[in-house]
Amino acid sequence: MAEDHGFKRGLTNYGDRDFAVYLRRSFARSMGLSREMLDKPVIGIAMTPSGFNNCHRTMPELVEAVSRGVLAAGALPRAFPTTSLGEVFLNPTSMVYRNLMAMDTEEMVRAQPMDAVVLIGGCDKTVPAQLMGAASANIPAIQLVTGPMSTGHHRGERLGACTDCRRFWGKFRAGEVDQEEIDIVEGRLAATAGTCAVMGTASTMAIIAEVLGMSLPGTAAIPAVHADRLVGAEASGTAAVRMLTHPVLPSEIITQKSVENAMRVLMAVSGSTNAVIHLAAVAGRRGIRIGDDQLNAISDETPVLVDLKPVGKGYLEDFHAAGGVGALLRELKPLLHLDTVDVLGQTLEERLEEPLDWVDRNVIRAFNDPVSPQGGLIALSGNIAPQGAIFKRAAATESLFETEGRAVVFESLEDLSQRIDNTDLDITEDDIMVLKNAGPIASGMPEAGYLPIPKKLAKQGVKDIVRISDARMSGTAFGSIVLHIAPETAAGGPLAIVENGDRIRLSVSEKRIELLVDDAEIARRLEAHAKPAPPPRGYRGLYARSVTQAPEGCDFDFLQHESTARWTGLTR
Ligand code: FES
Ligand code: MG
Repeated sequence: MAEDHGFKRGLTNYGDRDFAVYLRRSFARSMGLSREMLDKPVIGIAMTPSGFNNCHRTMPELVEAVSRGVLAAGALPRAFPTTSLGEVFLNPTSMVYRNLMAMDTEEMVRAQPMDAVVLIGGCDKTVPAQLMGAASANIPAIQLVTGPMSTGHHRGERLGACTDCRRFWGKFRAGEVDQEEIDIVEGRLAATAGTCAVMGTASTMAIIAEVLGMSLPGTAAIPAVHADRLVGAEASGTAAVRMLTHPVLPSEIITQKSVENAMRVLMAVSGSTNAVIHLAAVAGRRGIRIGDDQLNAISDETPVLVDLKPVGKGYLEDFHAAGGVGALLRELKPLLHLDTVDVLGQTLEERLEEPLDWVDRNVIRAFNDPVSPQGGLIALSGNIAPQGAIFKRAAATESLFETEGRAVVFESLEDLSQRIDNTDLDITEDDIMVLKNAGPIASGMPEAGYLPIPKKLAKQGVKDIVRISDARMSGTAFGSIVLHIAPETAAGGPLAIVENGDRIRLSVSEKRIELLVDDAEIARRLEAHAKPAPPPRGYRGLYARSVTQAPEGCDFDFLQHESTARWTGLTR
């Protein structure tokens, strides 16, 4: 290896390099490593176990399997910890800490002496954070995911987190399921280690990592507890060593073309709305962006081919058994860029050369027999969202696609929770619910966009109503919901000046969301609108000062690639 590889990599020396090498080797020896080991190239393993992250429960055996692959291929594995984010254990929302983990990952990969790195994540925010960090550190890197949970069983039916969590809780609230049964179900929803069992954010991001080319082919959907998950981990270790002699950098893998492929697959799996933000953040680390027009063009021409919950029927284990990402990519082949490269250095064309002998068409449909002819997500624009908004048409009610209604405004999350179930709330099913101050600067962009149906309407049997906000929603939620309105309320976006009784128009066919108030009145209200309070101290202060809006992936402005266009013109 060259002088600056392995433990000698990136050494700080204050004039006497030989002493710096000697010192580092001495300290490495104190970890019980032989001299022979110290001369080998080093593969870092970014591990993220945590007593607050159930989705990463298998981390120890994954680290062991990656290490085995690294050692067998002739390099020295060195596992190191980074921040771990367990989706349901973080307040106010895990989203706030994704950038912290991305910074941690980038800096630890860059600062420590490793020639390549295997990054092991899984839960919603961890894979985007690791991809963002790897894209910026730009040393050879392989993403390995912990894999999805297998389903549990309850009285003859299969259960998987977390679409079924919502379904059962809804039944409990309606009195269809009693306390005793809901307590039993609690122990059956998340039956194994691994990430949520449906096509939520974690599964969508695992698939995106593979489609980008950052994970080994075929590894995205292997169940967490399946033996092949460990075989994939071992192979990831081996492949990381191979990258030393066949280098492929994240900058060669994450390109305009691979990002477009990832966006297309996101549409074809009817993936999570959150993945649009995460993909924008990863792409933004390499100076790449997909504009709303391009997103809509991709959505309009890409059929949904996968029939999985929360929109369809199956679970991730079914997707894996049906043929997984490889089978899906073969169907989408005519729409994909085939000259992208993956961590093995092969092109997508090479990967897809061999036809598959069998695919379960109940789960992964043929291109000409889609679940739906168009992608699940679209971008909206209009005077209320000058920099765009996202709408999951696959999860919405078609009769609400063209709606003009009266605004019923909630000023904040607190206001919403205080008034939503008031019997005197002035609301009908023809109105449009508006939530403000739930964007990235105001509150870290929680999954609050799925506003509950007010009790008085729910009692009348109302199941859906148009809801709009600057928030996100869970990858497992449903409804006619406009999300990610940008700029957000706290950044002075026009959402801030919507008043009770204003008329709002949603048109899915025109991809518009409009406030039917004239421009002069909007300008007058914006002028009079009070600026939000200055950000708090510490990391939350840094976050509020530096976070970008949803179209830029909610990354920190100072972490984006220097050539990432500042197209929003947003002033904070
Ligand atoms: Fe970790 Fe759902 S809670 S993936
Ligand atoms: Mg989620």
